[in-house]
Amino acid sequence: MKKIIMGISIFAALITMLSFSINIEKDHMDKSLSAKERTEVLLAKMTLEEKIGQMNQYNGFWNVTGPTPIQGDAAKKYKDLRKGYVGSMLNVRGVDEVRAVQKIAVEESRLGVPLIIGFDVIHGYETLSPIPLAEAASWDLEAIKTSASMAALEASAVGINWTFAPMVDIARDARWGRVMEGAGEDTFLGSKIAYARVKGFQGDDLSKDHTIVACAKHFAGYGFAEAGRDYNTVDVGTSTLYNIIFPPFQASIDAGVKTFMNSFNELNGVPATGNKFLQRDILKGKWNFDGFVVSDWGSISEMIEHGHAMDLKHAAEIAANAGSDMDMESNAYVDELANLVREGKVEEALIDDAATRILQVKFELGLFDDPYKYCNKEREEKLLGHQKIQKASLDMAKKSIVLLKNENSLLPLKKKGQHIAVIGVLASDKTSPLGSWRIAAKDGTAVSVLEGLSQYDGNKISYSKGADLILGTPDFITEVKINTTDKKGFSDAKKTAERADVVIMVLGEHGFQSGEGRSRTDIGLPGVQQELLEEVYKVNPNIVLVLNNGRPLTLSWADRHIPAILECWQLGTQSGNAIAEVLYGDYNPSGKLPMSFPRNVGQLPLYYNYKNTGRPTLPAPDVVFWSHYQDEKNSALYPFGHGLSYTQFEYENLVVKPKANGISVKIDVKNIGKLTGKEVVQLYIRDVHASITRPVKELKGFELVSLAPNEVKTVSFTLTEKELGFYNNNGAFTVEPGLFRLFVGGSSKTVIETSFDFKG
Ligand code: BGC
Repeated sequence: MKKIIMGISIFAALITMLSFSINIEKDHMDKSLSAKERTEVLLAKMTLEEKIGQMNQYNGFWNVTGPTPIQGDAAKKYKDLRKGYVGSMLNVRGVDEVRAVQKIAVEESRLGVPLIIGFDVIHGYETLSPIPLAEAASWDLEAIKTSASMAALEASAVGINWTFAPMVDIARDARWGRVMEGAGEDTFLGSKIAYARVKGFQGDDLSKDHTIVACAKHFAGYGFAEAGRDYNTVDVGTSTLYNIIFPPFQASIDAGVKTFMNSFNELNGVPATGNKFLQRDILKGKWNFDGFVVSDWGSISEMIEHGHAMDLKHAAEIAANAGSDMDMESNAYVDELANLVREGKVEEALIDDAATRILQVKFELGLFDDPYKYCNKEREEKLLGHQKIQKASLDMAKKSIVLLKNENSLLPLKKKGQHIAVIGVLASDKTSPLGSWRIAAKDGTAVSVLEGLSQYDGNKISYSKGADLILGTPDFITEVKINTTDKKGFSDAKKTAERADVVIMVLGEHGFQSGEGRSRTDIGLPGVQQELLEEVYKVNPNIVLVLNNGRPLTLSWADRHIPAILECWQLGTQSGNAIAEVLYGDYNPSGKLPMSFPRNVGQLPLYYNYKNTGRPTLPAPDVVFWSHYQDEKNSALYPFGHGLSYTQFEYENLVVKPKANGISVKIDVKNIGKLTGKEVVQLYIRDVHASITRPVKELKGFELVSLAPNEVKTVSFTLTEKELGFYNNNGAFTVEPGLFRLFVGGSSKTVIETSFDFKG
């Protein structure tokens, strides 16, 4: 027996040596080999340090087109780059800059492995589309995909080949500033949007020069930060994890996403970055993900502050063993991993696995064949701000607007003979509409509301800012300062409003009030804006409230008093043009809310797909023992899926029938108004009894239909086991036959209802 084992070992060693020597002889630059083969060949040539180098990502550390750094951190990073100890850089942008770093990696390092260049291309590069939450309000998957592909086109022209997007974190708490970066509160919608965005960025062929690698982030649970405070602890149960948080990540994999980013938060006691369950068991195990995982910024070293790692070396050990393949800016891998391997604390096989994943993506991008393929000066000049990118951004902006309220058809505005007062400092702001994720967009490049309106010349426009919102010039890093006292402009605003036929008040949040690190406990109109609104209302109640914001706001007063409310988020470069077209009815709004708008911040977290509880209703008049608040309703002010049009739709003839492998649903939708319009037809189900309780409503289908006046369209859906089942608490997908309710309509609230028995 011993002999047999020895024989097998010798044979295995021979095979390894043989394949090693074959790989040494083969050339990783040989294009006739597959990406996988080329990766194997290259890996066999690499030292341990070079392999670890691939797992190291540095931030753009000096102006590479300037003098070489000779001391300090930048000098060390420069040396690492020349040694081949850097696999990727982020925040290096522009053809000249990217070419310069790439040249060092390719021409000065021993093996010449090219860098993958990452950047937060979240909703555009220099030309911005609406913030992702706004785009989600379009429910228009084709437009969202196009928006991502335009972002990829512009970014790829400036040397970037990897975006840290889409953020697919589900978020139920509007206090969390990063809700602006996701697709809102719903898993079904969020999964469809995740898929569309990945396809938009990556296309079907990564080797093309206009497609870039996407990154599904933040794995996992980042959107469930306690109390909506960014980076805060996350503690969620298995059911929420599998049914709510995971599906958009799975959809990203279905779309072929090549990278994942882990997360700052701890999940049930273990930081996501060092979480083996998430990265090895689920992502690379159960889901078979073959791309690579990058840490979030410094999240490996942050495991020390979390109280999980003793020091940087320990953090590197935990992260590498847990499946974090690339270290963003912790310096943990480049400084510590080689020793950890030598000490036997991290197996070299894991380093090989991580480096293989990273190298393979570089081969697929075509970087080995042409490391400068994204560094074409002419292309850069031609594509930055290209008309077709601007056009797509305008189209997306119009589709993202949501009409929340429109009493007495105050909107659309008449095009002639009106005196319109425009009030609010945001009306003239050309930077705020760019949002907070706009590192490459230049200040003042958005079209303001005033500029948009000025293109319609049939009315007289008078403007008064009313009051400042922000003090000083806000930026990406520093805390914004809000004006809470200066009301000197109120009287001018009132005088301007008094004389007008209609008042357009542009209020809300500055673009730098949402985003990373920008959580709020009060989500009403910030500063003195609520007071301004109430003062102007006293002199002229004929107000259209145009909202600019990066999260749901509490708008109870406005809802009670203001006749028309238009949700315009931060709409990007073309903001003012899109808003003007909608105000004047040249574009009929069709957006629907991707997040519930609460009545009161105390209701948060608030979401339409809540559980019923054992005490959902009032047991008898005035009895307190049911799940409610004493001082506020349970329901949202504007529910998920809500959004009006300048026309109206009617739903009838709901037909539900069993079919071969599921349930068929048909509904007639009719335009009963006077204008052509689009409606998002939404289908929800409720699994009435299940081994794991199911939400009172779950979105399971939607379709965007365009209807001329009086036109009727039959919309069909099929519900299969995929829509009718759920994950149990062991993470297994389960389908339980039984009674289901089914709801169809234009929001999660306004619906017609039936039920069916699913036989399985
Ligand atoms: C964010 C990530 C982002 C990264 C790189 C982090 O602070 O959480 O989403 O991609 O920075 O800029």
